[in-house]
Amino acid sequence: MEISTLHNIALNILEWITLLLVLGVATLLVMVIYFYIVDSRQQTHTIRRNYPVIGRFRYLFEHLGEFFRQYFFAMDREELPFNRAERSWVYRAAKEVDSTIAFGSTRPMDQEGDINFLNSAFPVLEDEALPVKTIIVGEHHCPQPYHANSVLNISAMSYGAISAPAVQALSRGARMAGIWMNTGEGGLSPHHLQEGCDIVFQIGTAKYGVRDNNGGLDDAKLLAIAAHAQVRMFEIKLSQGAKPGKGGILPGAKVTEEIAHIRNIPAGMDSLSPNAHPEFKNVCDILDMVERVRMVTGKPTGLKFVVGQTDFLHTLFQEIHRRGVPSAPDFLTIDSADGGTGAAPQALMDFMGLPIRESLPLVVDLLHEYGLRERIKVIASGKLISPDKVAWALCVGADFCASARGFMLALGCIQALQCNKNTCPTGITTHNKELQKGLVSSEKAKRVSAYAKHVAAGVNMIAHSCGVLEPRSLGREHVTIILRKDSSRIMRELDPIPATRSEYIQRY
Ligand SMILES: Cc1cc2nc3c(=O)[nH]c(=O)nc-3n(C[C@H](O)[C@H](O)[C@H](O)COP(=O)(O)O)c2cc1C
Repeated sequence: MEISTLHNIALNILEWITLLLVLGVATLLVMVIYFYIVDSRQQTHTIRRNYPVIGRFRYLFEHLGEFFRQYFFAMDREELPFNRAERSWVYRAAKEVDSTIAFGSTRPMDQEGDINFLNSAFPVLEDEALPVKTIIVGEHHCPQPYHANSVLNISAMSYGAISAPAVQALSRGARMAGIWMNTGEGGLSPHHLQEGCDIVFQIGTAKYGVRDNNGGLDDAKLLAIAAHAQVRMFEIKLSQGAKPGKGGILPGAKVTEEIAHIRNIPAGMDSLSPNAHPEFKNVCDILDMVERVRMVTGKPTGLKFVVGQTDFLHTLFQEIHRRGVPSAPDFLTIDSADGGTGAAPQALMDFMGLPIRESLPLVVDLLHEYGLRERIKVIASGKLISPDKVAWALCVGADFCASARGFMLALGCIQALQCNKNTCPTGITTHNKELQKGLVSSEKAKRVSAYAKHVAAGVNMIAHSCGVLEPRSLGREHVTIILRKDSSRIMRELDPIPATRSEYIQRY
């Protein structure tokens, strides 16, 4: 063959390759534009809406991760604060995709301090099961007691720490699921009210929303908040698990005009609550405040704190008996040392307070000892994001559970750990409108509701497997605590409900 013919063939091949390349690039470009339009218009996936096209890789990598983890990386239980197994459960529940898993548990069942439930030889048949028992908070002691049967509710997160669409999605989801939502310490916003859910109003150390000019409690403002029928209870926050001894921290970048108006503070400047209520110096001051809030509002009033030095509890309960049992807070919210926050110093986050595993049995026991268990309801919080955790808390003696981060995950949180930076990629803890557009509140509300319902269904399932007709009949006899490999003890034997001290029972 002549050289010129060879040359022509080579040129032809080159032309074809160039043509194919150009066609390939053009197709890719068209696909990118197509996916860009699809991603930015769809309303269900936050990351794809906020980061069109590129966000798809997250879902691809998440899927591929399942295979890679078999060879290179950590198993699905080695990430913190919530491992992949825990997060995946919440995502699946929220999206209502198949909640079954295959092959076998990846959970080690021999970890000291961990628990297992004790199934009954005679599980409850579905048609024998009873609806979840209703608890009445403030019964006989409040003009307007609160009736609730929800097992998992939305824990305190202020409007400020989380965005307006997040608050809207949570409040609509709460209404759909029949659970309550706590305002957190940032006051009551229109976003809390607009969807019609039950609300617990939190009074933080800065008294945002009910603050007088000197930083004290303003009864007129309190009355105005209580006038909303949706506001069912009031919670005075003494401390929060992630930062006991430190007040709320809202960086200036997150203090928008609206948030500043609700809190009655300047916009754009850091919003720092005092690290304690200035008017509280002893348990009498605390009980005085409980009485005052309950009297002004007519609604159940409780305290939220993380347990630290326990003599506080003894003094509190003794003072309640000295004043008379009606003076008691209507509920106690016990938060765990490993609770979440929008922003906190690491020293407090990592080292201060007792975890819920230790504090919940302790508080429930003391309430029994002082004969106050019936009078004071108990709400537990701290990583109680799945049915097993909630069922454990009910077994120990909690009346309700609450979660903040479980509901953030249901909203689409990817645990980017940027809540303090106004850069949350899923629009939950940012006031950047560009990032918020990914969070379509009407869509996410469905996930919030589905998550709450799946947790409740899971707790029911555990209760029925343990042989009790409804979740609030779970007790310490239904849990075994692992002491060491291959050895566990039933919680009722290890940590029995103490007998009531007779002197308190007489007065009660
Ligand atoms: C973003 C964020 C904001 C929070 N804001 C408040 C608050 O205003 N008041 C409060 O008492 N707790 C606040 N918390 C703590 C939660 O209410 C809850 O007690 C704690 O996170 C434990 O629950 P979890 O482990 O289910 O998140 C906040 C938590 C998060 C993650």
